[in-house]
Amino acid sequence: MPRIAYVNGRYLAHRDATVHIEDRGYQFADGVYEVCEVAQGFIVDMTRHLDRLNRSLNELAIGWPLHRSALVTVMREVIRRNRVANGLVYLQVTRGVAPRDHAFPPAGTRPSLVVTAKKSDPVAAAAKAEGGVKVITVAENRWDRVDIKTVGLLPNVLAKQQAREKGAHEAWFVDAGGNVTEGASTNAWIVTRDGVLVTRPAEHGILRGITRTTVFDVARKHGLAIEERGFSVEEAWTAREAFITSATSIVMPVVAIDEHSVANGQPGSIAISLRAAFFDVAEKSPA
Ligand code: PDD
Repeated sequence: MPRIAYVNGRYLAHRDATVHIEDRGYQFADGVYEVCEVAQGFIVDMTRHLDRLNRSLNELAIGWPLHRSALVTVMREVIRRNRVANGLVYLQVTRGVAPRDHAFPPAGTRPSLVVTAKKSDPVAAAAKAEGGVKVITVAENRWDRVDIKTVGLLPNVLAKQQAREKGAHEAWFVDAGGNVTEGASTNAWIVTRDGVLVTRPAEHGILRGITRTTVFDVARKHGLAIEERGFSVEEAWTAREAFITSATSIVMPVVAIDEHSVANGQPGSIAISLRAAFFDVAEKSPA
């Protein structure tokens, strides 16, 4: 079955779906994006994802390409046309197409919108979670507005590639003070020996992950304590558990950091239970 993508008002065969060479997303990474999980025919945490999209757009003074409700209709249509029951829906909004000039284009330039959807294999994801994943650490080298979900992801791309070359799943950025900020495409967590969940505050230095926010809800429901604070790589080595969160990995246990095993090198029980309980707590919008 051919994949279908939405590009600026049209549903196109994925292989023919293109944007203009002077799209500012292409030339300047002048755009933002969201990735929502689709699970069992539902869009997971759509309200939170669209609220964050709104924030990202506002921070960069990019307008909505469509009314929010029309965007939801497009997301559903792309999911339907690609017959995605489990997978993800991706949306990208850029400042639009204009002759190349660093300053903003003339008022009235229409933001560009691309929406795609892709299937994933929940059985393979579950198998991955059963084994857990390895992460490496890299020096933080990003700008200080990583709270905005922009498509300017070059440091993240390079970090992820370094992880792949070392046989790891993710790279954790470490700031000048020795504290973990977040992963190349995930938020980073540990569980202390006392069973307290620790993750960095989201005011700055990290993206406020939607999965992170919903894991807070899951933890509260299950009576788990949370501390929002930085943690060092050394603390993570000796933690009871470590894990990462994102829309594409939900809660994924981390079993090794660089050459150090976390605890006994097996996925931790708290990460496993947060993963199991996640879908019950998350918002589910029919796709
Ligand atoms: N990445 N931190 C970064 C840098 C991210 O890129 C992401 C998401 C997260 C987790 O956010 P959320 O829980 O809302 O997915 C944290 C997406 C999945 C991506 O780029 O593909």
